[in-house]
Amino acid sequence: MSKNVLITGGAGFIGSHLVKLFVRKYPDYKIYNLDALTYAGNLESLKEIEQSKNYEFVHGDILDLPFLENLLVEKNITHIIHLAAESHVDRSISDPLIFIKTNVLGTASLLQAARKFWKNQKDHLFYHVSTDEVYGSLGEEGYFYENTPYDPRSPYSASKASSDHFVRAFHHTYGLPVVLSNCSNNYGPYQFPEKLIPLFINNILEMKPLPVYGKGINIRDWMYVKDHAVAIDVIFHGGKIGDTYNIGGHNEWKNIDLIKLLCQQMDQKLNRPKGTSEKLITYVTDRAGHDMRYAIDASKIKNELNWVPSLQFEEGLSETIDWYLANKEWLANVTSGEYQNYYDQQYLKR
Ligand code: NAD
Ligand code: TYD
Repeated sequence: MSKNVLITGGAGFIGSHLVKLFVRKYPDYKIYNLDALTYAGNLESLKEIEQSKNYEFVHGDILDLPFLENLLVEKNITHIIHLAAESHVDRSISDPLIFIKTNVLGTASLLQAARKFWKNQKDHLFYHVSTDEVYGSLGEEGYFYENTPYDPRSPYSASKASSDHFVRAFHHTYGLPVVLSNCSNNYGPYQFPEKLIPLFINNILEMKPLPVYGKGINIRDWMYVKDHAVAIDVIFHGGKIGDTYNIGGHNEWKNIDLIKLLCQQMDQKLNRPKGTSEKLITYVTDRAGHDMRYAIDASKIKNELNWVPSLQFEEGLSETIDWYLANKEWLANVTSGEYQNYYDQQYLKR
């Protein structure tokens, strides 16, 4: 069946990979990419498909309800995959209100527009893309399951938890056909260099300090972004309405171990003497409320939808570094202007 799919946040990191996957794989679908082009959105990430017949970019804000209502009617949107969000924990600590606006009110506005426009529930789907950070922080043992109680601890995760609750509330109250996924930390090409991996790649290139928060012992469960996009595709087409799927790859890394691996790979690729990048490691004041460990149990998506990640981390990291080295212009563009002020505030004063 042909579908008119609205992907929000499609100029962002994960969204741009998802848009490219859907535009190429589903020529019968019309893909609309709705994005406000904040600091994190970049149309250069979509150059490869921007001329495709089944693709259209729409510049707009998910907080603008009349605009959303018009868009859904005008384009006859049948499906929504919602990724637009403020996504960086450190920014949520310095400016929480924009996270509440975009992530909570923005999601609620989109839900409201879909509820108004969609009459026959069977032909529609509202897919909400979320994070494992809503489940809180783990100790040394255990995993996040789909039924793990929510326990968000940063303004970012609190705003995403709230948006998840609204999505489920619209399903239970109004029968809106929804599906949700909660994924672990993503990495890969086109990630804005404020998140750990691209920030450190950029800093190593420029021989700048690598700011390791606290003792570097926090643990994250890393997922290659293209594997995440495939998981979204699989859930979009096969997920059960009203259900939630955790997405992760059993790929836990202590920050400092990951950083050392990154330093070694960068030295090799840049033909710098061994140990050059590690000398840039600088331990700085810990992030406020820093969650200790995230780890996903992804058995449900594996057992029900037959999805498993395709890449080993060392390979994915190497591909990611190669991409940044080959795309220095993209990096230079997104780190020009406002970025420098943000970087100075965040890191150099720590
Ligand atoms: P990102 O910050 O790279 O991109 C967000 C996109 O949303 C940008 O293109 C931005 O312009 C757009 N946007 C922001 N506010 C908007 C608004 N008001 N209206 C329209 N567009 C707006 O984020 P990302 O890392 O690609 O994450 C995408 C989604 O996946 C988010 O919902 C995030 O919570 C979730 N997620 C991210 C990760 C991760 O590791 N990055 C992991 C799990 C889940
Ligand atoms: P980040 O990429 O911001 O993702 P999240 O906070 O959503 O997990 O950070 C990943 C880990 O790296 C997290 O434990 C914080 C740490 N970190 C640093 O040590 N230094 C940095 O400069 C950044 C951005 C993150």
